[in-house]
Amino acid sequence: MSGGRRQRLLLNLCVIFILACLLLQLTVLRATFDDTELDLTSDLQHDYLDVEWREFIAHTPEQPDTFFQYNRQLSDKLAAVRSLPMTRHDSCNTRNYQLPHVSAAQLSVVISFHNEARSILLRTICTLISRTSHDYLHELIIIDDCSDDAELLVSLDGILRRIFHAHPAFIFRRNRQRRGLIWSRNEGARVASGHYLLFLDSHCEVNAGWLEPLLDRLALNSSRAVSPLLDPIDPETLSYLAGNVLLKGGFDWSLHFHWLPRQFADGERAEEAYKSPAFAGGIMMISREWFFKLLGFNPHLQIWGGESIEFAIKLWLCGGQIEIVPCSRIGHIFRSRHAFEFPAQFEEQQQQLDTAQATYLRNSKIIAESWLDEYKYLFYTLKPAAKQIPLNLSQHELASIKTGQRCQRFDWFLRHVQPDLKVHNAKFSALGTLRNEDRCLHVEESQLLLVSCYRMEITQWRLHRNTGQLSTGHKRCLGVLNESQLSMQPCLVGTLINHTQRWQRRDTQLLHAGTHLCLDNPLKNQLALSSCRALAASQSFQFALEMEAQTN
Ligand SMILES: *[C@@H]1O[C@H](CO)[C@@H](O)[C@H](O)[C@H]1NC(C)=O
Ligand SMILES: *[C@@H]1O[C@H](CO)[C@@H](O)[C@H](O)[C@H]1NC(C)=O
Ligand SMILES: *[C@@H]1O[C@H](CO)[C@@H](O)[C@H](O)[C@H]1NC(C)=O
Ligand SMILES: *[C@@H]1O[C@H](CO)[C@@H](O)[C@H](O)[C@H]1NC(C)=O
Repeated sequence: MSGGRRQRLLLNLCVIFILACLLLQLTVLRATFDDTELDLTSDLQHDYLDVEWREFIAHTPEQPDTFFQYNRQLSDKLAAVRSLPMTRHDSCNTRNYQLPHVSAAQLSVVISFHNEARSILLRTICTLISRTSHDYLHELIIIDDCSDDAELLVSLDGILRRIFHAHPAFIFRRNRQRRGLIWSRNEGARVASGHYLLFLDSHCEVNAGWLEPLLDRLALNSSRAVSPLLDPIDPETLSYLAGNVLLKGGFDWSLHFHWLPRQFADGERAEEAYKSPAFAGGIMMISREWFFKLLGFNPHLQIWGGESIEFAIKLWLCGGQIEIVPCSRIGHIFRSRHAFEFPAQFEEQQQQLDTAQATYLRNSKIIAESWLDEYKYLFYTLKPAAKQIPLNLSQHELASIKTGQRCQRFDWFLRHVQPDLKVHNAKFSALGTLRNEDRCLHVEESQLLLVSCYRMEITQWRLHRNTGQLSTGHKRCLGVLNESQLSMQPCLVGTLINHTQRWQRRDTQLLHAGTHLCLDNPLKNQLALSSCRALAASQSFQFALEMEAQTN
């Protein structure tokens, strides 16, 4: 062999070896990361995306580090679409999903945002498009709720059309004044034309294969609304973590969101879809038709707060259900513990905090007045400040949804959906109006009267669990002066409390501890005390809300 030929052969072998190494590496890489991502995995598009991405985020306006409440600098450095750990159960990858035909399951995605960092927003959109089957993804509706970065939407429009061309369709809207998340989401739904709506937050990273498990559940019963299981993204390190399949969403009597432990049925596996009293976060998918039958998010709620709980209660009571689907994963930056209570952007300025709190309280009051029936007294006991907030809404406006749909009472929700929302109050054993037949016990200028229950502003009573006092909201207690005389007195406090103000509940009777006589309405609407007679209708007094007869 001549020297030249040997060298060429060696060179060829070298090249083949290097190619083989590269191929091996590629195969290993492919095996490690899932390969369901579409289009953007091609190198050409990746480079192109990269250039566009740099250009777009280079124009992020300077903001103090605390502005976004997540690590914006780090986010700018990460790839537009990075590989994410596969957090769902392995069995989710091989399952046979029952998918509706694409012609009957076009998806409209609604993203509304206010002051989101460019890189975070664009990553939300790019991960969504690259990890969603094109056949189903019909359109993206992006609503800028009056962000400070006024140029953002125009640049976004440009870059998205350059990267993704004509598919999916994009609809951009900018609110000239701040309208809030609730209004914006309703507006997004209004302009949508797909069969399904997905409400997505603007600080997410969509994980592979998220859509099919949700479509599968919706195809089985279209009265459902479904949520993916949210995988938390750390706001500082932006690490993508696995979400907790043992939690469901719920709320307390203050109408604050809470994570609740999930109870497993016999043989139920953690990765199966499960019912949840409330949505876990603001991400949910629902048929557009069903969303509009339910009149969307309550338009009387303002800006932000409570809309997700309101929609959940409405959905359950009017014939729907909520499911969390652990085979569907979407990463979400949880900015702070109170992410569900106040918009982050309000938290910085003390002055605005009060407005945010008032808005939240007003929204909660609307929910209580529309849906909680007599249980609203529990809400008012925990949130007395809500009483003073004017709603300026008629009963008709509060309950308009109920006229169109057959909706259950809140009792039903307690029995079937969130039984762990115990009707128990540590302080009071009964609350609300106190009724004897068709009359209610009412205090007017210290006079005790029995008046029509349909009057406005009837006295609301509380029966105190520990002291047995029966008080009104004005710290006046029902007492007995001597054997014959009932009267309203300043409530005694602490060690001064004695038998004169103590009442015991015996079925529906109210027995006075000092005299062992029962509250009675023996003549026509004249309140008196007389000896107790079981089953006497004149001695039967019913509170609007009786707590469970359990202690703690
Ligand atoms: C769908 O779910 C609702 C509410 O739980 C139920 O009433 C209805 O029967 C279900 N429909 C079907 C087709 O299973
Ligand atoms: C209350 O509502 C009515 C009718 O919707 C409106 O005309 C009026 O201005 C409102 N008042 C306040 C104080 O918001
Ligand atoms: C109860 O008090 C009233 C007024 O204070 C008085 O007129 C009445 O005689 C008293 N009755 C008894 C039994 O002490
Ligand atoms: C209960 O306390 C009130 C006020 O301290 C007092 O006037 C009354 O005599 C007391 N009654 C009894 C039965 O101890």
